[in-house]
Formats: sequence, structure tokens, C-alpha cells
Amino acid sequence: MIQHLNSKSNQYALTFMFMKKKFFITTPIYYVNAKPHIGHAYTTIAADVLARFHKSQSEDVFFLTGTDEHGLNIQKKAEDAKKDPQIFADEISEEFKNYWEKLNIKYDNFIRTTDEKHKAAVQKALQTLFDKGAIYKGEYEGYYCVACEQFKNEKDLVDGRCPDHDIVVEKVKEECYLLKMSGDVQKRLIEKIESDEFKIAPVKYKKEILSFLEGQELRDVSISRKNVSWGITLPFDKEHTTYVWADAFLNYLTGLGWEGNAEKLPPQWPADVHLIGKDILRVHATIWPIMLMHLDIPLPKLLFAHGHIRSGGRKMSKTLGNAISIDEMLEKFGIDGTRYLLMSAGTFGEDVDMTMERMVEKYNADLANGLGNLLSRVLKMSEKLAVLPELDIEKKLVNTGNHLYKKDENFNEWVVDLKFDMGLRYLWDNFVRKSNLYIEEKKPWELAKVNQPEFEKVMRRLLEDILFVAYCLKPIMPDTSKKIKEAFEMKKTDGLFPRVK
Ligand code: MSP
Repeated sequence: MIQHLNSKSNQYALTFMFMKKKFFITTPIYYVNAKPHIGHAYTTIAADVLARFHKSQSEDVFFLTGTDEHGLNIQKKAEDAKKDPQIFADEISEEFKNYWEKLNIKYDNFIRTTDEKHKAAVQKALQTLFDKGAIYKGEYEGYYCVACEQFKNEKDLVDGRCPDHDIVVEKVKEECYLLKMSGDVQKRLIEKIESDEFKIAPVKYKKEILSFLEGQELRDVSISRKNVSWGITLPFDKEHTTYVWADAFLNYLTGLGWEGNAEKLPPQWPADVHLIGKDILRVHATIWPIMLMHLDIPLPKLLFAHGHIRSGGRKMSKTLGNAISIDEMLEKFGIDGTRYLLMSAGTFGEDVDMTMERMVEKYNADLANGLGNLLSRVLKMSEKLAVLPELDIEKKLVNTGNHLYKKDENFNEWVVDLKFDMGLRYLWDNFVRKSNLYIEEKKPWELAKVNQPEFEKVMRRLLEDILFVAYCLKPIMPDTSKKIKEAFEMKKTDGLFPRVK
């Protein structure tokens, strides 16, 4: 028996049994052309919620975000600001970090594409691709949108302008290095998407990408620029810099400390979720996996594209100038108010239209009059309880057989599926609103005068429900969750969510 346990394979099996499940989640890395707005916060908060949730399930989580700092757009923005591009990038990258801190986002690494280690790894990976013949020298001609940093198909343009950024695209014809995109690699990509080995969600995007891939032979993409100085020099041709997207994609590996060797992958790879906005779905579903396949690196497990936050009928964007600022939201709604409003704004995966008026309305209804009011009423009434009932909901939740366990599963399923709005609606419909109605119906303050046992029964249910809400809200509204628990433990609260105008 002892000999049996000591065998190598059993040691591996034992290690595996005690190893935590890993969960590696990424956001896109954001361009440093301007400070972040709520569109960027939307993706990053969602990733933070998932990371916190998976941590709470005792998984070994790695949450990566960062900034994408090279390319023509940033080179131009730095020139306009009369700044050295590195200094320009340093300043804005810092802004992203500051905003993520203000929004209580807890990432494990913040990667910058101007980090020396990232640059060296990109060069190494490109050299491998070149040596393998996956990259070759040629010429590219097309319409370039500098805000997308992408070549556009002529048929996708609207009056010669990029439909996303409403700016005139530039006709470019230049010598460049190209990445092979068609033939066997395209066929294998289709198979991997079809079988969900490389899963694209929501399913409408999987269908969209499959019909795009099946409908045409992919055109090889340019992975270098000759006239853009602000970029990583190609190791095999010093006259070219790396195309900003080829540089950016590799952050998903270098952010884990990868040094560019395809045979030495970080243990967290492959990514469990690449969270992105739908604007960058196609490049993520084509160029990125094809780069990986040429490198013989396994593909990410899930590419999840969420919809856009729109304002005035168009995608909220720095370039269009219709963005709601994070500061304005933080000032009005606080950190958790902002996180709540973004995560409950609409189906994650669909576009959502946001206006300040609607957000104020929702904040007052759900948070000030909903959760905030419930907490202060229950707290006030609990003063009349001789003893507070058992409050450790977390302990109760692991105690199978308790009715709360089932409720917890319902909520978890929504979060695991990235249906944050549904999870929150579930909590508000079944607990917050119901509890407020239950108070109206039972009038506990009257019961306290005439029927103490009944009063205690009603209060126990209210306490359990509000603490259950607090427990579930942990990944979405971490401070609120903590404050609710503390309010009962210390029998005091500064109040949650004052009304706003
Ligand atoms: N740098 C590239 C991504 C490279 S990833 C290898 C880029 N950067 S970006 O600054 O333009 O940010 C794009 C991402 O920001 C979107 O994919 C999305 O996640 C988020 N959003 C930016 N504006 C948004 C909205 N209006 N609504 C929702 N998300 C938005 O593209």
C-alpha cells in the first residue's frame, strides 16, 4: 500500500486532488489615449466581480488588466500634447490604475506594453513565428482607422468614415510583414470554435464569427508598420515596428510573466475567460487564436463579448466625446452605487443605453429606497430584540440542508454565467423588495408590543434575508456587504445610500 502511494503517478494524483482549481481572467488592455470612462469601467468591474466570486469559491484566481501603449494613435496624441510618448503613456496608465483603485478593483497584475519584459517577450515570439514561416514579407493596402488601430473593409465604411469612431479612414499602402491567416489554420480554428474548445459567448457571437470564418478565406494580416515609430521594433527587420494588436494580444501571456518561449508556459495559461467588448470581438476571435495556433500554444477557454454602453444612441467613446465620467458617477453614487448601477444596467452581452437621469432614478429606487431603507428599518426594529439570532450566514450556507443553500446556488449560477443583472434582479425581487413588503404586511413594531414570539420569528426571517443579500453582494458591492454585516454586529450604521437628486 505504501509503495503504491509513493509511486510517481499517485503523487501527481494526490497533488492534483489538493490543488486549487485555477481561474485566469483578463480584461482588454486599454489604450492610453485618454483617461478611462464608464465603458472601460464596465468591463473591468465585471472582471473584478468574477475574480472576487471565484476567489470566494476558494479557487486560485489570477486577474489581469493593464494598458496598451504603442501605436499610431498614441504617437499622435502624444505629439498633440507635445509630450514624449513614454511620458504621455506613463501619465495615462497611472490614471487607469488610480481609477481602478477608486472603484475598488483588485487585480493581480497590471501589465503595460511598454514594460521591457513584455517587449522582449513579444520580440521572441515574433522571431519564432518568423522562423516557422508563419510571418512573411509583403505589402498591404487598405483603409486604416487610427482610433480602432485596424484596417477596415471598404464595405463596412459609412461615407468613407469608420462606423464606430465617425472619423475619416486613411488609405494606406505599405511594405509590411504579414501573418498567415488562411488554409489549414483557418480550418482548425473553425473546428475549435464549433466544438467550443475555444468557446465564444454569448452564442450569437459564436454564430457571427463562424459565419464570417466559413464565408471567406481570411486575408493575411499585417503585423508590422513601417511608418509608425512608437512600437516594438521587429527583431528580424529594424525598419519595422510591431503592429499594435500583435503586441497587445501577447499581454495575456506576458502579464503572467511569460518570457516568449512557447514551450515554457505559465501555469495559469490558458485563460479561463477573456472578457472583451463586442467592438474587439473579431480580432480576438481570429488574429489572436491564429497567432497562438502558429505558436502551438493552447487557446483560451472562453472569449466573452459584452455589449456597449451607449449614450445618445451611439457607443460611448472618448473619440466621440459622449462619455459619462467615472468621477461624476463616483461623486453621485459612491463606489458600490457605481458598481451596482453598471452591473445591473442591462443584460451583460447586450448593448445598454445609459443616461444620468435613469441612473439617478434606479439608484434612488433600488439602493436608497430599496436596500438602504430596508437596512435602516430592520436595524431600528432589531433594537427591540432581546437577543440577536445566529447571524453567521456564511456558516449556515455551507451547512447543507439549510433552505438558504438553495438560494445561494441560484445566485451563483447567474454570476458564473456572467448574468450579473439577472443575479441582482433575483436578489432584489426575492429579498430586498419582498422584505420591504413583508415589513409593511407584518408591522413588526406593533407585533413587538403584543406578541413577542411572533415578532422574533418575523425579525429572524428579515435578518436572514438581509444578511443573505449582504453575503451574495460581496463580489459586486464589497463595502456594502461588509457594512451590512458590521451594522448588525455593532448595532449601528452610518446609513447606506443617501438619496440623490
Ligand atoms: N487596446 C485595445 C484592446 C487590446 S486587448 C489585447 C482597445 N482598447 S480600448 O481602450 O479602446 O478599450 C476597449 C475596451 O474598452 C472594449 O473592448 C470594452 O471592453 C471597453 N469599452 C470601451 N468603451 C465601451 C463602451 N462604450 N461600452 C462598453 N465597453 C466599452 O480596444
